[in-house]
Amino acid sequence: MSNNFKRYTITSALPYANGPIHIGHLAGVYVPADIYARYLRSKNQDVLFIGGSDEHGVPITIKARKEGVSPQAIVDRYHNIIKKSFEEFGISFDVYSRTSAPVHHETASAFFKKLYDEGKFIEKTSQQLYDETAHAFLADRYVTGTCPYCGYEKAYGDQCESCGTSLSPTELINPKSALSGAVPVLKETKHWYLPLNQYERWLKEWILEGHKNDWKTNVYGQVKSWIDQGLKPRAVTRDLDWGVKVPIDGAEGKVLYVWFDAPIGYISASKEWSLKTGKDWEPYWKSDNTKLVHFIGKDNIVFHCIIFPVMLHAEGSYLVPDNVPANEFLNLENDKISTSRNWAVWLHEYLEDFPGKQDVLRYVLTANAPETKDNDFTWKDFQARNNNELLAIFGNFVNRTLVLTKKYFDGKVPQRNELHEIDQATLESMKAFPEKISSSIELYRFREALSELMNLARLGNKYLTDNEPWKIFKTDTARVETVLNISLQIAANLAVLSEPFLPFSAAKLTNMLKTNTLKWNDAGSADLLHAGHQLGKPEFLFEKIEDAEVEKQVRKLLDTKKANEANAPANPAKDEIVYDDFVKMDIRVGTILEAEKVPKTKKLLKLKIDTGIDQRTVVSGIAGHYKPEEIIGKQVSVLVNLAPRKLRGIESQGMILMAEDKDGTLRFVSPTEKVSNGSEIK
Ligand code: 2FM
Ligand code: ZN
Repeated sequence: MSNNFKRYTITSALPYANGPIHIGHLAGVYVPADIYARYLRSKNQDVLFIGGSDEHGVPITIKARKEGVSPQAIVDRYHNIIKKSFEEFGISFDVYSRTSAPVHHETASAFFKKLYDEGKFIEKTSQQLYDETAHAFLADRYVTGTCPYCGYEKAYGDQCESCGTSLSPTELINPKSALSGAVPVLKETKHWYLPLNQYERWLKEWILEGHKNDWKTNVYGQVKSWIDQGLKPRAVTRDLDWGVKVPIDGAEGKVLYVWFDAPIGYISASKEWSLKTGKDWEPYWKSDNTKLVHFIGKDNIVFHCIIFPVMLHAEGSYLVPDNVPANEFLNLENDKISTSRNWAVWLHEYLEDFPGKQDVLRYVLTANAPETKDNDFTWKDFQARNNNELLAIFGNFVNRTLVLTKKYFDGKVPQRNELHEIDQATLESMKAFPEKISSSIELYRFREALSELMNLARLGNKYLTDNEPWKIFKTDTARVETVLNISLQIAANLAVLSEPFLPFSAAKLTNMLKTNTLKWNDAGSADLLHAGHQLGKPEFLFEKIEDAEVEKQVRKLLDTKKANEANAPANPAKDEIVYDDFVKMDIRVGTILEAEKVPKTKKLLKLKIDTGIDQRTVVSGIAGHYKPEEIIGKQVSVLVNLAPRKLRGIESQGMILMAEDKDGTLRFVSPTEKVSNGSEIK
């Protein structure tokens, strides 16, 4: 071990209990966290690996409302589904808790109270949107209206899903309450804020100076940009009735902000674990010789690197994380994974179609993990990695070794005789693997670690193929003894070193080799199996995945796509207008002359358009739908008398008309035959 930590506290983001979990969750957070935890346990380290469900927050209340049930009924349902999926995939939590548990309410409440009593919050009164019909303040997500930036009519109070801009609910044009449809009014309300700005210096020292070299660049970069933009006090309470009640007088009807209580859930879970095991939880959170690591997805970076650490630091008795190895996102067949569009591979469904193949998915998701950039999961790649890697290399090597040993030596480990050069070289290479894999894991480079593990299987496979023991058994038994002895030592090394990645297959292999007691520090050795040791019955570790099986999955996704399109009804017609309303709009045909992405935005393109009247700049939210180079020269419809407005500092002089398909795809509204620029659309 490259450091002197005495114990490890490993947390994995608490998934919201408002839906089942999918491969994106597994790839981004839980498989890497599990590899790390299993590896450390195999190194005889003291590990507390924490998981749990995040059961508060507005989306859960929205779902409950839609279904006409209580939020508790929603979280009970999904907590159990999620917990089961984790168990089935071998995610080896020491505790899997939930934030609706009493121990969590007590812990979060006490945490808030301590900061409150010590004057660590700022109290502020502000005007917030209130629904007078429903008698409730409206969470940002409960307000919908027109986006002031792109005109999208179904923008939420916190974000416009069309142009991606972050909004505040008071910016929306024609805001409406999702509770009653009423027009919300502004009403005063008091809240408590964590003054993040007061901790800027500490954050700079701790992260920007202290973790410049050991935190992943994607994480460090995001944190730096937040800090460089200047931090502001952040409200940690909300007017809502679902969550942890704010534990002070005069705060009736208020709960802790879900992002205040959720990470405290890691601590509550540790307390639950402590009650169950009788072990003290405090050293895992408070001793300097504990290493705290948060596994999360990139959308959680600010909460785990800025807000939660500030909370812990302000409280005073807790550690802050040593590292936060956040991953980027996993896409599915070239499209963003989406729960609402059912564009996902759900874990419980995967297991129905591929029973017993948990390790295949764990393998593919690790080999293709979105560690440094977003990555794509495709069924074709899944099949290829199973057939050409797991089966053809790892499985094939182990199987040949065990079957030959059974055939020639009745399943007893043969002795090692005189060593040839190839034997010595192979054993020498084998020795280096534990250290190589360890150092990759300790740097949170799980893809690299897995690829090294496969190199060990490759080494074995090649060794066996080069020596062809099946050809010489009759003429040179002594040589076959040596070759199979060495192959078996490699297989035993694989059983130990693959356990963090492929726990089910490692257990099978261990069972075949009868090597139950081996741990990480034993690996590298050529004496894991002694001559005469009786092996178990050879079994296949992996099976071929046929074309038909993955074709079925691809068809399932195509069906989802079709169903999404068919189910989306066309929006109802808007209120009637008169002809004069229409003719106020001056819509012309124009040609796109230039197109480029607006820097630092995902959705915006800056276009130069020949409108026939002039050449002008229009900024349009279509970057997710067209590449700049493919639209140059296209004729489009432009609303030319729309008042100019600035988008990201660029004056947009008009609007391109777009047809929005049922799946959200935007397409130009263009004349079917070429007409001259400036032609009026009437
Ligand atoms: O993004 C999410 O799914 C959150 N529920 C993660 C919470 S992590 C922790 F703070 F609990
Ligand atoms: Zn918008």
